Amino acid sequence: MINMIRAFIFDLDGVLTDTAEYHYRGWKRLADGEGLSFSRADNEHLRGISRRESLMLILKDRVYPEEKIQEMMERKNSYYLEFIKEISPRDLLPGAKELLEEIRAAGLKNALGSASRNASEVLDRLGIRSLFDAISDGYSVERQKPAPDLFLHAARQLGLPPAECVVVEDAAAGVEAAKAGGFRSIGLGPPKRVGDAEAVFPGLSGVRLADLLKALDATQFAR
Ligand code: BG6
Ligand code: MG
Repeated sequence: MINMIRAFIFDLDGVLTDTAEYHYRGWKRLADGEGLSFSRADNEHLRGISRRESLMLILKDRVYPEEKIQEMMERKNSYYLEFIKEISPRDLLPGAKELLEEIRAAGLKNALGSASRNASEVLDRLGIRSLFDAISDGYSVERQKPAPDLFLHAARQLGLPPAECVVVEDAAAGVEAAKAGGFRSIGLGPPKRVGDAEAVFPGLSGVRLADLLKALDATQFAR
């Protein structure tokens, strides 16, 4: 049936928790150490992008040997791991857990669609793994966002067609990936960043399942 929603696929960093800030700080520390200019505005273009692609964007047209590239990616990740060590359920963004629970209670499914290879650890630290029916992360596919592969991987795990899944994203690359895969899309954050999504909310605080369905002009699958 048309316009029936059966599942939500959530990005992690910047959607369920504010690890987007820790990714930024990790890259900033690396860039400062290497004498490379990197600002918060530059970082907006890195949201949702894989570790390697992020580094390439920071390096711009500078050429480095592969060994040095690997070393820089590892260094950034070690900074990031340091930051996430303290993450606990208190670090869930407002409204995130309530929405995940409401979706489940309504008989719909939740999946994770995060490009991060640290997603599993962050999920466990946040204490929300049991709220997901499928987890697709930085190890699941080769081609990362803006390619649709990661979300398609999640939809396959759920056994659902993309048109019945809503992707919730804070990154332009994530919204692009959702649209490329034929998914419904909700953007979180400034319209300048996620305005290509079908509907935009500032964040998940106070956002209920009914609000999302209304914004998409959709109905949930009734069992
Ligand atoms: C995405 C983040 O979720 O994961 C990006 O938005 C990050 O900022 C990417 O680069 C890869 O994460 P990681 O943890 O594998 O370096
Ligand atoms: Mg994100």
